Amino acid sequence: MIAPLASSAAKSSKSGFFVPRHVAIIMDGNGRWASARHLPRLAGHKKGADAVKKTVRAAAEMGIEVLTLYAFSSENWRRPASEVADLMGLLRLCLQQEMQNLKEKGICLKVIGDYTRLDQDLVSLLNKAIEITADNTRLTLVFALNYGAQDELVHVTRLIAKQACKGLLDPDNIDVSTIESFLYTRDLPPLDLVIRTSGEKRLSNFLLWQAAYAELLFIDTLWPDFDSETLKTAVEEYARRERRYGGL
Ligand code: FPP
Repeated sequence: MIAPLASSAAKSSKSGFFVPRHVAIIMDGNGRWASARHLPRLAGHKKGADAVKKTVRAAAEMGIEVLTLYAFSSENWRRPASEVADLMGLLRLCLQQEMQNLKEKGICLKVIGDYTRLDQDLVSLLNKAIEITADNTRLTLVFALNYGAQDELVHVTRLIAKQACKGLLDPDNIDVSTIESFLYTRDLPPLDLVIRTSGEKRLSNFLLWQAAYAELLFIDTLWPDFDSETLKTAVEEYARRERRYGGL
């Protein structure tokens, strides 16, 4: 069957150029930023957390509707235990410091991925932040935590199979929209732009279904150096691209 056209996702921003509705970022290069300065990797992650704050602020100011950040992949558990603990510690600190700020600035926090596998206190903090920001509409900030696109598609397949076994769904009626209705991103607008920092040119198991028609932008900037100007340049590049969704 023919996939439905993704909706045209650009809209005019306050600053005069077209901004994508939904931007996702693979934040890469914290380690290399630190080692170039003979610093421990944690210093790179701390600077990376500062870049997250700057980018969220800039995205809200530019009129982006959804910003999805690959904060911890399902494969990141393979890192040394001390680095996993450092990343979780930073997430804990960011949530404690910023939760109230998110609420006041009109930012709605959502999480994709099986975040219930994180430490229990982090799960509680995340649930609280999700709850107190749920009615905000200025920007939706999505943290991908313990997220892997292949895991997401396995999860979706299981849910669909269960519905079919119960007789609630006819397998012959499964189509693109059925799958989309079970994805973690089911309530979000289509993904328009994926940015990966640090010069690597891979999707690394991030939003594989959702990226089907997204523009991909690979930039050399290391994540800790990413700021509002880098985001603006990326969005300007997006605005120059012509999206045809398989048509002419
Ligand atoms: C990649 O750098 C970054 C990550 C592992 C995830 C992003 C983490 C942050 C932005 C720090 C703040 C943390 C949270 C959870 C908000 P890398 O270590 O892969 O860099 P390298 O490829 O240069 O080694």
